Amino acid sequence: MKSNIRVSIAGVGNCASALVQGVQYYKATGDATGVAFKEVNGYTIDDIKFVAAFDVDARKVGKDLSEAIFTPPNNAIKVIDVDRLNVVVKPGPLLDGIAPELVGKHIPVVEAKVDDVVRELESANTDILINYLPTGAQRASEAYAEAALRAGVGFVNAMPAQIATSEQWQAMFTKAGLPLLGDDVQNQLGATVLHKTIMHLLSLRGLKVIGTYQLNVGGTPDFLNLNYRKGQKEKTKTTAIKRMVEGQEFDTYITPVAHVGFLGGRKRAHMFIEAQGFAGVPVRIEVSLEVHDPWNNAGIMVDVLRLMKVALDRGVAGPVYSVAAWAFKNPPIHAPPDEAYQWVIEFINGKRSN
Ligand SMILES: NC(=O)c1ccc[n+]([C@@H]2O[C@H](COP(=O)([O-])OP(=O)(O)OC[C@H]3O[C@@H](n4cnc5c(N)ncnc54)[C@H](O)[C@@H]3O)[C@@H](O)[C@H]2O)c1
Repeated sequence: MKSNIRVSIAGVGNCASALVQGVQYYKATGDATGVAFKEVNGYTIDDIKFVAAFDVDARKVGKDLSEAIFTPPNNAIKVIDVDRLNVVVKPGPLLDGIAPELVGKHIPVVEAKVDDVVRELESANTDILINYLPTGAQRASEAYAEAALRAGVGFVNAMPAQIATSEQWQAMFTKAGLPLLGDDVQNQLGATVLHKTIMHLLSLRGLKVIGTYQLNVGGTPDFLNLNYRKGQKEKTKTTAIKRMVEGQEFDTYITPVAHVGFLGGRKRAHMFIEAQGFAGVPVRIEVSLEVHDPWNNAGIMVDVLRLMKVALDRGVAGPVYSVAAWAFKNPPIHAPPDEAYQWVIEFINGKRSN
């Protein structure tokens, strides 16, 4: 039976800002352009309700979510005023959430215990917890995954920590009868999905890939954090590209290069691919992409939340393989975008169980 989708957020940064604004935008305009799915089994974007939020940045904690999303250092563009949500941002466990170089002087912190997060998730009657913590926050992400398990809610790992691809976490969510999605969102039209699509095409057309690189710069706090901690992000991005060309060895260099402040919420990506076609004759491809990174993330998250709610309604336990392959850079099972899309359609129509 259709009901609201009660969503809690860990990490009230730029992605949370774009997501909360986006839900308000579609609610206010009744528009349905700019999204892959107008409806998912009857669920519309309007069914998404935010019920709890956690952060450790003292400038955001204690504010209503509608206000915290516009608090610096967040710099995602504002497209709409957000109605008061009556969701006060609560503190969570800090652990490795913020890069040591940024704690204290740059980011004033306040923290709480996992038990507090569990209590809050339960009292807010949460269906789904999204993990939007900075890259490199493996232990803090695990703390939120544990809170989700204890509170009995589905978990969406939107960032590169190893959760949905960890056999240990997969087993725990399966045992608890709860759905799990991740790792690291593959944006609606970001560098990863575009690069993957080109690589897959080369493979289908029989070309031999010699090497490829992808260089990313942006002006968000996400990129500032990546200045210090980019290992897991390099891994999820590189794996996503390599898995589109199975059976070939080739060089890759895929990385977030730098924080470039004046770009604000924008990200610029440059991709280059060198390959050999018929009779070894060279082919070179160069692509540039500019996107508003957090908005690109929210554009796929509105689908993820509705698909996870369908998984909850059907009692799916553990990884939802189809949705993960469609919407995440490092899913438990990789597939090219068109094949993953078919899996999602089959899942929605009940022809696949997960
Ligand atoms: N921007 C994109 O398009 C995109 C795409 C895919 C994945 N991601 C990933 O999503 C994550 C979030 O991105 P963002 O742009 O919103 O980052 P952000 O830096 O704007 O926000 C992160 C938030 O998490 C908070 N935080 C840090 N430690 C915490 C803790 N222990 N508990 C609770 N809150 C904590 C920070 O204070 C901040 O508010 C990043 O890991 C990013 O790599 C982003």
